[in-house]
Order: sequence, then C-alpha cells, then structure tokens
Amino acid sequence: MGKLDGKNILITGASQGLGREMALRFACEGAAALSLVARHADKLNAARDEIRKVAPKIDVVIIDGDVSKPRDIERIVATTLAQFKGKLDVLVNNASTIGPSPMPYLLDYPVEDFREVLDTNLIGPFLLIKSALPAMIERGGSIINVTSDAGQVGYPGWGAYGISKFGLEGMSQTWASELQESGVRVNWVDPGSMNTAMHRAAEPEEDPSEWADPADVTDVFVFLASDESKGVTGKRFQAQEDWKAAALA
Ligand SMILES: NC(=O)c1ccc[n+]([C@@H]2O[C@H](COP(=O)([O-])OP(=O)(O)OC[C@H]3O[C@@H](n4cnc5c(N)ncnc54)[C@H](OP(=O)(O)O)[C@@H]3O)[C@@H](O)[C@H]2O)c1
Repeated sequence: MGKLDGKNILITGASQGLGREMALRFACEGAAALSLVARHADKLNAARDEIRKVAPKIDVVIIDGDVSKPRDIERIVATTLAQFKGKLDVLVNNASTIGPSPMPYLLDYPVEDFREVLDTNLIGPFLLIKSALPAMIERGGSIINVTSDAGQVGYPGWGAYGISKFGLEGMSQTWASELQESGVRVNWVDPGSMNTAMHRAAEPEEDPSEWADPADVTDVFVFLASDESKGVTGKRFQAQEDWKAAALA
C-alpha cells in the first residue's frame, strides 16, 4: 500500500525541478492519476516517460499551459477534471517564475516583468484554487502552495518574486480560514534551497552543489497530500527543517 493510493493529483510546474520530483514520488506512493502542467510539452513528455517506468499503471495527463493566463487555467482545470471524472484530491501550486535574471532592484524593476511574476506566482494559484475547489469539496482535499523564505524576508534584489511569495503566504492563510469548515485543507511549504534551474538563474555565482537535490525534499509533500494530514490546515512548513513538529503544533 502506498501513502497516496487512489489519489488524483494536479501539479503545476511539473516538467522539471521540484515539481517533476514530486510527480515521480507521488507515482511511487500509489497515486491513481496525475495531471502535470507546464508551458513546454517536450519536458512534460519526458517526465511522463520517467513516471511510467516507476508506475506503469498510473493515469498521467500532461497539459501544456501557462498559469499566468486565465484562459489556460480554465483549460487546465477542465482537461484535468475530464480525465479524473470530476474528482480532484490534491492541488499543488508549484509553478513559479523568478522574473528577470540578473534580478533588478525594485527601483529598476520593469512593470511588465513585475506583473508577469505576480500573474504566475500569485494570481495563477488564486485562479487555480477557485476553479478546482468545487471538484475537491466532496471528498475533502489538500491544497499545497509552494513558497520560499523570500516570502517572509524582503531580501534586496528578490523584488517581485519575494513579493509574490509574501502574497501567496497571505492568500494561503485566508483560503485556509475561509475553508476551515469545508474539509479542504490549505497549507504552504518552503522547500528550502534546491539545485534547480530557477535557483541557478537567481544566484549564478553560488555553488549549486551546496543546495539540496529536489528529490530529497518531497517527504513533506507526500504527508500533505496523504490522508495522514487530514485536519492539518493553515500551516507553513519548511521541507528541510523539522516539519513534523510544525504539523503537530
Ligand atoms: N529552487 C529553490 O531553491 C527554491 C527555493 C525556495 C522555493 N522554491 C519554489 O519551489 C518551486 C519549484 O521551483 P524549482 O526550483 O523547481 O523551479 P524550476 O526548476 O525553474 O521549475 C519551474 C517549473 O514551473 C514551470 N513554469 C514556470 N512558469 C510557468 C508558467 N507561467 N505556467 C506554467 N508552468 C510554469 C516550468 O516549466 P515551463 O518553463 O515549461 O513552463 C517548470 O516546470 C517554485 O514555487 C519556487 O518558487 C524554489
């Protein structure tokens, strides 16, 4: 028995980095169906091939869509629910953009880039939750938003990205309070520093071998996606810290 037996799960940003590792891990834990979203279909196809090697019977739908575009979000949710026969257990809002690299200070931040970062990292998750929620209410479900330490500290240069994560954390708290009685839980996870394309673009002078492999930070996501976390809502988790203590607090 896997921890996620029978679960239908939608993950955005699942073509590489953390989202891809999460998808592989969820498949190994027995998920029934995965809907994997990113803008580039080639990497999604490759991720699906890898997943089928570890879980040959899993139902995987890949959707090339842009979470910064409301029309794509409607299509992402409609396609997912058609494949999942209307039942969604877990939504992971993982897709994000860091914005321009090198990262400008706010004084120099182009407003178009600022908007694009907020559309992808904040408005996208808002619309996805709104749109997917009716399919999650009946069985009770889990919404997991992926944040960052830049969502708690105003680091110089992390401008629109950090501000989008501050917003995501505030929005997660509000959704969690408003859904308190519904059986749908909302939690958010800071995965910590990981060796991914995003982090390498953000800090090109740093040594990526110092950062965690994203495959090694997936335990907390399995916990939050599984029935083990039923009743846990409105909490912030740090994947590379003692997250079990946060779950019990
Ligand atoms: N890496 C770190 O050290 C670190 C630290 C703290 C928090 N995080 C958070 O962890 C999460 C995963 O980051 P990562 O490091 O794994 O990033 P990554 O390797 O850059 O992967 C980002 C994923 O999001 C997708 N994506 C980007 N923009 C999108 C859009 N507009 N619509 C749909 N999909 C989009 C990308 O695919 P396409 O380009 O094909 O769309 C890709 O699959 C993010 O929420 C990030 O903020 C990362």
